[in-house]
This record gives sequence, structure tokens and C-alpha cells, in this order.
Amino acid sequence: MRVVETFEATRALSEGRTGLVPTMGFLHEGHLSLIEAARDANETVVVSVFVNPLQFGEPDDLASYPRDLDRDVSLAAEAGADVVFAPDESYMYPVRPKTSVSVAGVANDMEGAHRPGHFDGVATVVAKLLSGVQPNAAYFGRKDAQQLAVIATLVDDLSLPVHIVGLPIVRESDGLALSSRNVRLSPAERARALVLSRSLFEAAGSFEAGESKAGALTGAVRAAIAASGDIEPEYVELARARDAAIVDEAVEGEYFLAVAARVGATRLIDNITLDADHGSADRGIHLTGPSMLYEEG
Ligand code: PAF
Repeated sequence: MRVVETFEATRALSEGRTGLVPTMGFLHEGHLSLIEAARDANETVVVSVFVNPLQFGEPDDLASYPRDLDRDVSLAAEAGADVVFAPDESYMYPVRPKTSVSVAGVANDMEGAHRPGHFDGVATVVAKLLSGVQPNAAYFGRKDAQQLAVIATLVDDLSLPVHIVGLPIVRESDGLALSSRNVRLSPAERARALVLSRSLFEAAGSFEAGESKAGALTGAVRAAIAASGDIEPEYVELARARDAAIVDEAVEGEYFLAVAARVGATRLIDNITLDADHGSADRGIHLTGPSMLYEEG
């Protein structure tokens, strides 16, 4: 496994079909599931580790984003990566880029409305990673369901020759969706945060029992969160998976039911995928024990 800092070095090490797993580091089992899927389908697996300043609105969020490159490198190697591309900020952005990639519509609601400029930052860095690494496929988690729709739209609109693969959310055994930001939660906050997944699972049960109306599904999530006490969701929405359009009903194809909320100072997002063709909900993959986020460093 090699660690490199330039696109040229990454491409020089890429042989045959190449899969890229873009990350901001502080890897957990969710990232490892992406690396393993890339390993199964490609000759070369590249993991990028770059905390992209363009996608952070709040300076504190960027400053406190967890970072540990040595840990990331050994985890990526164990999961089967061939190359870790870990560029410096001065390499990625020697000057503030004058070009910004903006995906209209898909990026407007939910995360886009609550984090202005966030998706422009994501789309710009992903476009740069795809053009610099030139992978055949790139792997993203469905935890960021709207991000996945933004990236798929970007790739379609610009005819980028890369296959975008979205994979299920990985959860702690008690349901909490894995996120590098979870390490910032105190034990009490972590316990309170469980209401997010619990409320989505309740709505998933209603969907599987035949409820397809957005009002009823989002209402169930809101009611469960309200009953638990002091968490105020920023949004609860039912959206089409393909283009993140907010809908009134899940009628055909794939949707996601999404929630965002602050628990203490930490902003969390979660969702479940709803398949309207089969009346089934994907609650993600549950680990059997505590995730590696809780291992002593
Ligand atoms: O999902 C993430 O970790 C980031 O948004 C991504 C896709 C690596 C871009 O910085």
C-alpha cells in the first residue's frame, strides 16, 4: 500500500480498472464497507483522505473535524486499498478556486438549505478528485443520500466516464448511523441521539405496513423525536433518491426519509431508503458490537 500526495503519483500507481473511495478520513466501518466493495470490483483501489475546507460553513466544524492519517492508512490497507491519496490543502487549492461546481435543484433543499454552499464545496472537490484520479467507479455511502444524488447528477450532466456506486448505511448495534462526527458526542448526547434512528425505524415499519404519504411518515418521525425530549429536528423530509426532490408520497422507485438535528453542538443526519416498488425499507447494516470509532487510539 502506498501513500501519495499528488494526482500524478496516484494515476501512476493505478493499474487496470480503478475504484475510488473519496473520504475525509477518520475512517469507520462505513468507509471500510466502501473500500471492500471497491476491492471486489476493481484491480486498483484508491482511498482519498482530504478534509475539504470548501464544504464547511462553520470554522469550528472544520477545525474540530477528527483527523488521524496514520490510523486511516492502516485501516485502508487492512480493508484492501492499494493507494491512499492524502493531499495537502496547498496542493488541492494552491489558490482559492475560481471555478465552483453547482448542481441546481438537487442541492437546494434539506442539507442544501441548512448548509449554504456545502454542496458546491462537495461537488467541486468530487469533480476535482474524479478528474485527477480518473477512476472507473467511485463509492459513496447512502448516509449522505442527498450528496449521492448531487454527485450522480453531476456525473450524468457532465458525462463523466465514471460509475457511481451508493452503498447502505452502516450503524452501531443500537442503531446510531456511523459518522466520524459521532466521536464528538458525550455519552449522554450519544444516548439522546439514538432517537433519530429509532424514529426512522418506526416510520420504516409504517411504510412496510402500507403507509406511503410523506405527511404520515415525516409526522411519525417528528412525533417520536418530540416525545423523547429536547431534540429539535432541522428538517424531516421524504425525497426521491434519484434527484433529492421532496415529494408528498412514495409512489414508484426509491425514496429516502431523512432527518437532521443538532445533539448538543454536533449536527447529525440520518435516513432510511424506501423502495416503493416492493414496499420495503432499507434500515442499513447493524454492527454486532461497538464500532472502531470507540476504540482507544
Ligand atoms: O462524504 C464525504 O466524506 C465528503 O463529502 C466527500 C465526498 C469525501 C467530499 O469531500
